[in-house]
Amino acid sequence: MREMKHYALSDLSGILLDEQTIKKRVHELGEQISRDYEGKDMVAVCILRGCVVFFSDLIREIKIPVTLDFMAVSSYNHSARTSGNIAIKYDMSEDIKGRHLLIVEDIIDTGTTLMHLKKMLEARQPASIKICCLMDKAERRISRVDVDYIGFEIPDEFVVGYGLDYAGKYRNYREIGILKREIYE
Ligand code: IMP
Ligand code: MG
Repeated sequence: MREMKHYALSDLSGILLDEQTIKKRVHELGEQISRDYEGKDMVAVCILRGCVVFFSDLIREIKIPVTLDFMAVSSYNHSARTSGNIAIKYDMSEDIKGRHLLIVEDIIDTGTTLMHLKKMLEARQPASIKICCLMDKAERRISRVDVDYIGFEIPDEFVVGYGLDYAGKYRNYREIGILKREIYE
């Protein structure tokens, strides 16, 4: 593990994805998305706040015109596991009717958040709706939802960094690390 005194690296049991690994995969996702959305009126919506780092890297790997928007839904707060329902805390401002929407999310765990969100946004009648997720903890899935673009399949561990937090911390780590269980249990 790299020595970074200003980070609470002692809170991590290890690094899961380093900067180079993330960068390479984000580039590939951008290329694939650029091909798939060529000639389409595309809106990419970033789900705040965990996705902000991934989103800013991903959009710069997309080589076609894309409109950006932002949305915040209720999340974990200070507990490490998801609650059943979601509420919109901050809504996107674009009218997505008839346009091609790409929801960009940091991580899919039980799938509950994305399932509800997708349903909610489908009601606004976009021409198409797809999901791009940096990480997928497939073993923990409870709600059925199709994810069209997945960066990495990861094991059932609580991860932080590259935008992802625990209790508001660790978002500014450049890599994605595994949080020690004793921190959240
Ligand atoms: P789901 O509704 O269970 O799929 O939870 C998805 C949301 O939970 C994500 O958008 C994250 O905000 C949060 N989450 C799930 N797993 C992790 C993790 O390992 N680290 C940080 N946040 C997580
Ligand atoms: Mg999130």
